[in-house]
Parts: sequence; C-alpha cells; structure tokens
Amino acid sequence: MRSDWFRIKNVEDLVDNSKNNELKRTLTATNLIALGIGCIIGTGIFVLTGTAAANHAGPALTISFIISALGCVMAGLCYAEFAAMIPVSGSAYSYSYASLGEFIAWFIGWDLILEYLFASATVSVGWSGYVVSFLADFGIHIPAYLAHAPFDHIAGEGWIMTGSIINFPAMFIVLIVTSLLIVGIKESASANDFIVVIKLAVILLFIGFGIAYVNTENWVPYIPENTGKFGEFGWSGILTGAGVIFFAYIGFDAVSTVAQETKNPQKDMPKGILGSLLICTVLYILVTAVLTGIVHYTELNVPAPIALAIDRTSEGLAWLASFIKIGAIAGLSSVVLVMLLGQSRIFYSMSKDGLLPPIFSKVHSKHKTPHITTIITGSISAIIAGLFPINILGELVSIGTLMAFTIVCISVLVLRKQQPNINRPFKTPWVPFVPIAGALICIAQMIALPFDTWLRLIVWMLIGLVLYIFYGSKHSKLNVK
Ligand code: ALA
Repeated sequence: MRSDWFRIKNVEDLVDNSKNNELKRTLTATNLIALGIGCIIGTGIFVLTGTAAANHAGPALTISFIISALGCVMAGLCYAEFAAMIPVSGSAYSYSYASLGEFIAWFIGWDLILEYLFASATVSVGWSGYVVSFLADFGIHIPAYLAHAPFDHIAGEGWIMTGSIINFPAMFIVLIVTSLLIVGIKESASANDFIVVIKLAVILLFIGFGIAYVNTENWVPYIPENTGKFGEFGWSGILTGAGVIFFAYIGFDAVSTVAQETKNPQKDMPKGILGSLLICTVLYILVTAVLTGIVHYTELNVPAPIALAIDRTSEGLAWLASFIKIGAIAGLSSVVLVMLLGQSRIFYSMSKDGLLPPIFSKVHSKHKTPHITTIITGSISAIIAGLFPINILGELVSIGTLMAFTIVCISVLVLRKQQPNINRPFKTPWVPFVPIAGALICIAQMIALPFDTWLRLIVWMLIGLVLYIFYGSKHSKLNVK
C-alpha cells in the first residue's frame, strides 16, 4: 500500500471548509432529535420484534434491547464527540479521514452506502408490505406480481425467481421521498417532524392503553429455557435476539450527516444523537414488555406483531388498529427519508474531497440541496427496492453499520492520542473504556451474522478498493497540497 493512502485531513481544515458552507443552516436541537427518531423507529420495532421474541428471546427480548442499546450508546457517545468537534456532512467518513487516513475514510464512505442507501431500500420494502395490507382493508388489492421482488434467496438453494415483476410500492415511496429531499432541507425536516409526531403518538397509545391488557402470566418464564441449540432461548437466545433487533437502533448516527445544516452543531449534535437514541431505547423496552405481556411469545412469529397484539384485546383496542397501520406506514416513510438524506450528504462530502466525481457535490442554486446526488441516490435505492427481498438487504445493512460504528469508536481513541489538545465541545466519557467496549460489542455482533453476508461485504469492499485505486486516489484534493 502506498504511503499517501494514509494521508490525513487536518481537523482545522475540515472545520474551516465547513464554514464556507453552501448548504443552509436551519436545523435546531429539536429538529435533530426528531430526525434521529424519524430514522430509528421503523421496521425494527414494527416488524422484527415479533420474530425475535418468538424465535430467540421470549419476554426477555427486553434484555436483548438493553444489550443492543449498550453497544449503540457507546458508539453514540463516540459519534457525539466527533459530530461536535468536526461538524461536517461526511459523518464517519470525515471522522476517519481526520484520524485513520484517506484509504480507511474511503473504505468507510463506501461501507456507509451499505448502511444508508441499502437501509432506505430495505425499509421501503417493509413500507410496501404495510401499504398493501392497509389498502386491502379497504378493498383495494395491489396484485402480488407488482408488490414483491422478482428475486429471492433461499438458504441452501440460492437465488430463485419468484414470478413477481417488481415491487412497485417500494419504488414509489423512494421516489416520492427523493422529490421532497430535492425541494429543501427545511421542508424535509418539517415533513419528518410531522411524521415523528404520528409515529410517537401510535407507540405511546399502544403502551398507554395496552398496559391494561397485559396478562403477567405471559411473562413467565421470563427467560424461556434454552432448547439445546445456540440462540434458541436462554442467555444465548437473548444475545442472538440482541443481534437481530440491532437493526431497530440503526439511524441515530444519521443525525451527524446534517451537521453542516445545523445552526449550532457544537451544542446540538450530542443532544440530537444521544437524545433520540435514549428516547427510542426507553420506548422499545416498554413496547416489548407490553407486547409480550398481551400475546404469549410463542404466537408472535408474525410480520405485524403490534397489530396482532391489538387484535388480541378483542374489542378493547379495535379503534387503534387502523391507526397503528397508518403510524407504521408514516413511520417507515421517515426512515427512508432520513437514510436518503444521510447518503446524499456523505456522497457530497466525498465529492468535495475529490474521492467522487464533482457532480456529487453540485448544489441546487435555489433549493440549496445537493440535488444531483439526491437524484442518483434515490434512483439507485428505488431500483434495489424494486428488485431485492428484505432479508438479504437487512443483513447487509447491519454488517455495514456495525463496521462503521467500530471504526468510529477506534477513531476516537486514535485522535485523542494524535491530537489531544484539539477543541472537543463534547467528550466521550470513560475513554478508553467506552470506545473499546463499543468496538468490541459491534465486532461481536458482526461475527454473529451469516457467512454469506460476510462474503457480500467482502465483494462490496473489493469493488470499493478498485474504485479507490482507479479514481479516488488519483483525484483526491490532498494530491495538490
Ligand atoms: N432503525 C430503522 C428501522 O428499524 C432502520 O427501520
């Protein structure tokens, strides 16, 4: 490897460049917390909770949520230190550029595509499922061949054709959200604020009214006995459950990608990242407790577990049923929105640094948004959403995100050593314990993911390496210094 692959971007330069800002600074701490919640609460809680309780942890899924939150809070503290110190749109990509060097930065920037772009596609496939079911309640039936991916992957069999043509609703939501993102950051944040209110209302109503229907016998045994197989109940089940529902926490880090559009990033970035993460952690634990209290965990292996719990209250909460579906549909839309927003901002930063072509950092003269990169990102996401199944996409998102979290934790340690005196408006507490523990928890969760997912990650990274050799390293703005 050549030595210039490890050249580092000066933190002061990064901060100075961000002051020369073409993007609009309009976001407040409240907007940031809302963006975080907008991106965090989605498929994880509305879809995955049921199967994770039924197959892995039982009522003790609440402990899985706590374990997974611990890893995320540690990574979140590291993100908060960086986002306040280097408030630029590149997130983990820019942080590693300042600490671990250009090649690792490129590597993480390329990896973040797996998180943001693939998550937007994954969640829009979940959105499609909820919309199809909601419309069916009103007698409007979207034919299956227009609402499912044409490809699927069966373990042991490989790729198969499903007979469907395309997942049209999934593509539709990505394109609608992309149009909104082009119009403006303020408009996008306002739409997100509105959606977050609906999403929180649905969750709070479920917790508040559902609690009266909890049968505490459903919580016994709280930790069902292990079946003899790793991951099926007992403590190994709780750990596997934590790996599965990690997806539910992804998104708090996306807050850091709008640092350059925030009025007072030094103070507000930590509030946005940690505030949204803590609020969601508490809500997740309460939802899971109520859910497993209303329905016995053995019956929760369904795609819409919260809707099932409502059905189980007989007539009691029937009025809430449609509202829950609307909340889930709205909630999933905002996840797509913030993920696409994050992806376009990371491409913007990489292009400003010369690692991607200049077209990715072109800003619209009127709307002040990186419109071309938003269109490119949205179109690719729509194609992926239309063609691929949710499970394959979801695992790639988790492995990509865990790798980014690991690198951010390590970067905090490296930069504390390399540049101890730099101004840090927010400091990660208990260094080196928090970054080391955060990195180890993330690595452990990566190891638990299937071998196929690792293979896909490796192929993806090799493509990234080729692009860096033939484009990024040649066009890097650091070449001319
Ligand atoms: N945390 C987001 C979700 O659960 C990605 O949909």
